Amino acid sequence: MINLQDKVVIVTGASSGIGASLAELFSAASSKVTMAARRKEKLLKVSCSCSCETLVVPADIVLNTDRRKIVDETIRKWGRIDILVNNAGLGMYGDFLAATETDWKKLFDINVFAPVLLTKLVIPVMKKQGSGIIVNIASIGGLYAHSDKVTPYVASKHALVGFSRGLARDLAGTGIKVLAVCPHLTDSEFFAVSTGADLMAPLVEKTKKYMESPDKVARGIIDQLDSERLVVFPTERGAKSYEKQRDI
Ligand SMILES: NC(=O)c1ccc[n+]([C@@H]2O[C@H](COP(=O)([O-])OP(=O)(O)OC[C@H]3O[C@@H](n4cnc5c(N)ncnc54)[C@H](OP(=O)(O)O)[C@@H]3O)[C@@H](O)[C@H]2O)c1
Repeated sequence: MINLQDKVVIVTGASSGIGASLAELFSAASSKVTMAARRKEKLLKVSCSCSCETLVVPADIVLNTDRRKIVDETIRKWGRIDILVNNAGLGMYGDFLAATETDWKKLFDINVFAPVLLTKLVIPVMKKQGSGIIVNIASIGGLYAHSDKVTPYVASKHALVGFSRGLARDLAGTGIKVLAVCPHLTDSEFFAVSTGADLMAPLVEKTKKYMESPDKVARGIIDQLDSERLVVFPTERGAKSYEKQRDI
């Protein structure tokens, strides 16, 4: 595991689930964490359970002004950015033909364009430093279609993995590394707030017993920040499910 003491880390979607656990674990490892999400009260609550100093930035990552605010406030406070975790994301469940153009655009704005554009703001800072890690939280759905009725989500997470692959090549030799993290089912608010949550509820009920805890997933991510591989599975379950499905 890399030494995280005094590292400056931005975590998007730090108000719940995997992002909240990441913020707490980075902080427990003595990192300085910028926590971004829309719900300020939730961010403040998570911040209270962090052991080191944090910076809470209420932000909607689909807005350019808010992405700028995340980066500018982090630089103003700590003067550098060592790790960017593009974690904020949304799910979508339902029949392919029922998903509207607006649904697709909203999903891609959050799951693809926001991480791409936030990364664009952070890379120049990391280039100046000669070091950094971009951690894109994709999904096993970024590697194969893990369920029926999740076509837009699978497409968005494949795009995020593709972005990570291209970026890693373009950044070779700069000291900046890219990881595409592919969690398996994780027990978080994700299944309650995603588009089509009502339709998905019976399936969620059935699969709940197979879900990982956000803490376990976050621990798996932090343990593998030094991985030489681009695609990282935070837990054994994700790696195994990919092994079974990879040729489909
Ligand atoms: N749960 C799973 O089974 C699973 C599996 C594989 C991959 N993932 C991925 O893991 C990541 C985290 O998901 P999770 O399971 O921890 O879900 P979660 O508990 O619903 O967390 C999602 C986070 O994203 C934030 N967010 C959503 N839209 C945002 C926006 N426009 N601007 C800023 N923040 C926004 C939410 O905060 P606010 O609402 O406060 O803005 C929340 O903190 C996602 O990218 C998801 O696709 C999840």
